[in-house]
Amino acid sequence: MPKILVTRHLGQQAMTVLENSGFELIVNPEDAAPSREWVLTNLSDPEVQAVCLMHSQPSDKVDEQLLNAANDNLRCVSTFSVGYDHINVKAANARGVKVGHTPGVLDDAVADVTVMLVLMTLRRVGESIELVRSGKWPQLPWAPFVNCGHSIGHPSLTIGFLGFGRISQAVVDRLLVFTNKTQRPRIIYNSSRRRDNQDEIDADFSKRYGVEVRRVEKDQLAAESDVLIVLCDLNPSTKDLVDKTFFGKMKQSAILVNVARGPIVNSDDLHDALTTGQIWGAGLDVLTGEPDIRADHPLLRVKNCVVIPHLGSADYDTRNKMAELCARNAIAAVNGDELLAEVKL
Ligand code: GLV
Ligand code: GLV
Repeated sequence: MPKILVTRHLGQQAMTVLENSGFELIVNPEDAAPSREWVLTNLSDPEVQAVCLMHSQPSDKVDEQLLNAANDNLRCVSTFSVGYDHINVKAANARGVKVGHTPGVLDDAVADVTVMLVLMTLRRVGESIELVRSGKWPQLPWAPFVNCGHSIGHPSLTIGFLGFGRISQAVVDRLLVFTNKTQRPRIIYNSSRRRDNQDEIDADFSKRYGVEVRRVEKDQLAAESDVLIVLCDLNPSTKDLVDKTFFGKMKQSAILVNVARGPIVNSDDLHDALTTGQIWGAGLDVLTGEPDIRADHPLLRVKNCVVIPHLGSADYDTRNKMAELCARNAIAAVNGDELLAEVKL
């Protein structure tokens, strides 16, 4: 009887789908990450044909070690995430192991958090909450410009995206609601490659949104964005893509929002850019080294930097949809069917 290994209870909705599949399940009994040994040992069981695993559990990293430990009948690693930077996809595919992930179902949730971070950063909500919580509000006499930030609707705003996939497009849908017909922002983006029909693609976007949308090179993106949103994949070509040189080209009034992966932005360079006034603020849902971020992390001491702990897809409804897709990818693989969403390099 084929088995599916589940490294973390996926919630009742998805577990019911798995239970109804007829396959045997090996489920981590703890409400905590399993040990690496637990994962490797169970993967060596010759009946385990698929594994549902997590992006953010160190035990679940799909590297050569894990693939070597797995039995030859493994057909699929199905991750409970859209991102797959924890998976060596090439090495998995080379062994005939498919990689499933959860695109689409989390676009709205991540777009919501992106907009929240844009507003929190522009309007200085992070430092303001701290001020109130620490009892300092009474020492802050009102003045016309006290605690002031910048408006999302100000005329001639340029919103820049590093990566312009489904989530970025859902962010544009939301941000346009904050502007009116006379205060339309301009949208620029950089994506990994320029397509042959790039002008046509941009014309379609511009028509769809009713504002100018254009792909630009990275230097121009850095130089012209008032709000720069990082929403690209993490891979060797995007690691440290936003670094000292990039910040050096940005406007001093600009903000950076990272809702993708920490290492795309160089943390030390971001710290320097914020503390030397090279950029105005930052909103981060992700940070290099997460979740091992201590209270003395330099970026947490910077006033105009809002940090939240990777909440992008964290609403109940979205997580249930991700869990179900993760489960269905695993089941499809064991049945010998196409995955519902396979990572294809
Ligand atoms: C979230 O970061 C994901 O990759 O699903
Ligand atoms: C704001 O609270 C105002 O009354 O203007």
